[in-house]
Amino acid sequence: GDRGAVAAALLAWYDVNARRLPWRALPGESAPDPYRVWLSEVMLQQTTVAAVRAYYAKFLALWPTVEALAAADDADVMAAWAGLGYYARARNLLACAREVARLGGFPPTEEGLRALPGLGAYTAAAVAAIAFGQRAVVVDANVERVVSRLFAIAEPLPGGRTAIRAATDRITPDGRAGDFAQGLMDLGSSICTVRSPRCLLCPLADACAARAAGTAEAYPVKAAK
Ligand code: ADE
Repeated sequence: GDRGAVAAALLAWYDVNARRLPWRALPGESAPDPYRVWLSEVMLQQTTVAAVRAYYAKFLALWPTVEALAAADDADVMAAWAGLGYYARARNLLACAREVARLGGFPPTEEGLRALPGLGAYTAAAVAAIAFGQRAVVVDANVERVVSRLFAIAEPLPGGRTAIRAATDRITPDGRAGDFAQGLMDLGSSICTVRSPRCLLCPLADACAARAAGTAEAYPVKAAK
C-alpha cells in the first residue's frame, strides 16, 4: 500500500543521502546513545543545524554523559548555553538530566520520556524513534511541509496539524522509524524546501499530490493573519 511504498522510497534515498551529522550514527552503526540524541534534539528545536554543531561539540566535551551533565553547576551550563537563546531550554535540560540520572538512564519509551521534566511531545517521539528504535510519529516543521505537500493537506495550520500528524502516522514504518523521521527532515531541508522545491530530485515525487497539481509551494497552508 502507499504506506510501505513511501517509506521504502524515502529510506532508500536516506541510505544514500543522509546528512552526516555528529549526533547521528554512521550507516550500519548501532543507534547513537540517547543522551546524544536528546541533547541534539533539544538544541535543534529553535536553532539551525549550522548553529548547533559547535554547541553540541562543546557540551559533549564538557559533559560526555547525562550523569556528568546532571552533576554540573547551573551557572556553568547556562554559560555554555549562552548564544543559543531560549534559555528556558537550558534550565529544562538540567532538570531533565538530573531526573534521568536519578532514574539510572533514559526511559526507553515515548510515554516514559514524555514524563521527564521539560521534555515535550516532539522530543519524546524523536528520542524514542532515533535512540530506541521505537515506532513514533515525529513531526517538526520540515516534516510538516513534506507531508502536507505529499497529501495536499489543505486545512490551514495550526488546525491542519491534526491531519498532518495522522498522515505522518499512516506512512511511518514499523522498523527504522528514526531513519524515516530524519529522512523526512533531510528531504525537507534539502529538496522539499519552502520556496522552489526541487521536485525533479525528490524520491517521493511520484506519490506527491501537490507535485501532481503543480502547487507544492502553497503548502503547508497557514491561517490568514
Ligand atoms: N532537526 C531536528 N532534529 C533533527 C535531526 N535529527 N536531524 C536533522 N535535523 C534535525
